[in-house]
Amino acid sequence: MIGLFDSGVGGLSIYREIQKLLPEFSTIYVGDQAHVPYGMRPYTEVRKFTTEMMRFLIHSGANPIVIACNTASGAALRYVRKEFPKTDFVGLVPALKPAAESTRSGRIGVLATPGTFRGKLYLHVKNKFAGEVIVYQDTVPGLVEQIENGQIHSSETHEILEKALRPMLTKGVDRIVLGCTHYPFAEDVIQNIAGDTVEIIKPGAAVARRVQFLLGQTQPDEVVLHRFLTTGDTTILKNALIQLLQMKDVDVEPLSWQADGRLI
Ligand code: DGL
Repeated sequence: MIGLFDSGVGGLSIYREIQKLLPEFSTIYVGDQAHVPYGMRPYTEVRKFTTEMMRFLIHSGANPIVIACNTASGAALRYVRKEFPKTDFVGLVPALKPAAESTRSGRIGVLATPGTFRGKLYLHVKNKFAGEVIVYQDTVPGLVEQIENGQIHSSETHEILEKALRPMLTKGVDRIVLGCTHYPFAEDVIQNIAGDTVEIIKPGAAVARRVQFLLGQTQPDEVVLHRFLTTGDTTILKNALIQLLQMKDVDVEPLSWQADGRLI
């Protein structure tokens, strides 16, 4: 069973690609919507939530597990790999490499949370792959909340994105990296503002191929199941599955944080 985890609905943009490539495998998705957004939280806190989520997913039978959240990957990927050595983890980091390799203007834009920009993982990737290009960054304040609330095509979302994108577009970026898994759900709004000459780079398909590689010779499931759980309001995740993934009949299970920091 493939496990996926995000602070909220963002990881569904990765789930969608995994489903496309590996429809014969069962999945379990957990969103920590009791704590979304993660972007502004201290790393120590995000690490605590993520570690417990991994414990829950492993206990539920998931392997490999995709940390379908750039912020949680930055905060916790190294730690969970050490803590749970028998599990294969796939982490998310803004896709600077394909952007830097393909840009013609030598200028790329990256949209991600403050947590992601702060992390060593991001800095490492930036130094390694984007040393030769100029990188413009923006945290797009408010966009994660708009997507969580199903307000993707509102005028407020448009304004939030216009404010984030205009300065980098004025500087001539021709690639925009979506470094937060929530943002692909606003891709059409972003493309609209940026125009056709700008290419938007998102990680879903590459992550799905990585999962396929990790599964190796694993036999597909005879009965394919897709479980969805949230620590928040189950109707919110259910509505997101209907709105964002056009699902029809779907059950969402509740998951609760206990006073001792454990999940049940
Ligand atoms: N979807 C997440 C990411 O990729 C985090 C959004 C948030 O909770 O701030 O970074």
